[in-house]
Amino acid sequence: MKFIKVESYDILSEKAAEIIADVVKNKPDCVLGLATGSSPLGTYAKLVEMNKAGEIDFSAAKSVNLDEYLGLDGECDQSYRYFMDTNLFSKINIDRKNTNVPSGINPDTEAECRRYEELIDSLGGIDIQLLGIGLDGHIGFNEPDSVFTGPTHIVDLDESTIAANARFFESEKDVPKKAITMGMRGIMQAKKVLLIANGKKKLEVVEKAIYGSITPALPASILQLHPDVTVIYSEN
Ligand code: GLP
Repeated sequence: MKFIKVESYDILSEKAAEIIADVVKNKPDCVLGLATGSSPLGTYAKLVEMNKAGEIDFSAAKSVNLDEYLGLDGECDQSYRYFMDTNLFSKINIDRKNTNVPSGINPDTEAECRRYEELIDSLGGIDIQLLGIGLDGHIGFNEPDSVFTGPTHIVDLDESTIAANARFFESEKDVPKKAITMGMRGIMQAKKVLLIANGKKKLEVVEKAIYGSITPALPASILQLHPDVTVIYSEN
């Protein structure tokens, strides 16, 4: 595992975008595993700049996102589908038909989990998976648990996750209590994993994930078992 500490969020974003851009340049029809949250915003902005400057071409690329809130339609501006459309897909030359986010509104949640799992397989797996990390060590929405869950599944969000994500909603009570998330199988089978985290309050959880015991109580710790992980952290 490579652990890179950088001086600023801007440098973090630049480096993360370069790593993703290299994957796209080497394999134009790659499968990008993408994440939401505040951490990837700078990375996405850099990828948009590179795409506009003609340095990278997403026309053959495909994407799979990690997760979605249950009950939120993709049109709803707090949904992760909306986040991705707004912050990345509408600004680069990816074909929206090739972008995938789990559905938060399929009433048959089990079928949706199965569909998403099959989709990842049918795309041939993920070439690079971008991850943020929650303060409780979650990746995607894989919350601390007594086991690592492999396939795409439904989760009850932790109180700390609901509180942390309340900033995107009118109030904490509006944050959905459940989500659908890619499980550890999709993430661990990705050829490369890139985890980005910024801010002093994330340092402790990042260090525990990298150097601590491998335990489902801190889901990101499973990444210690992956052969190609880069973690980029900036304090600011
Ligand atoms: C959410 C997302 C995660 C993300 C985490 C951290 O819970 N489901 O994928 O990594 O938030 O977000 P942020 O980058 O805003 O701290």
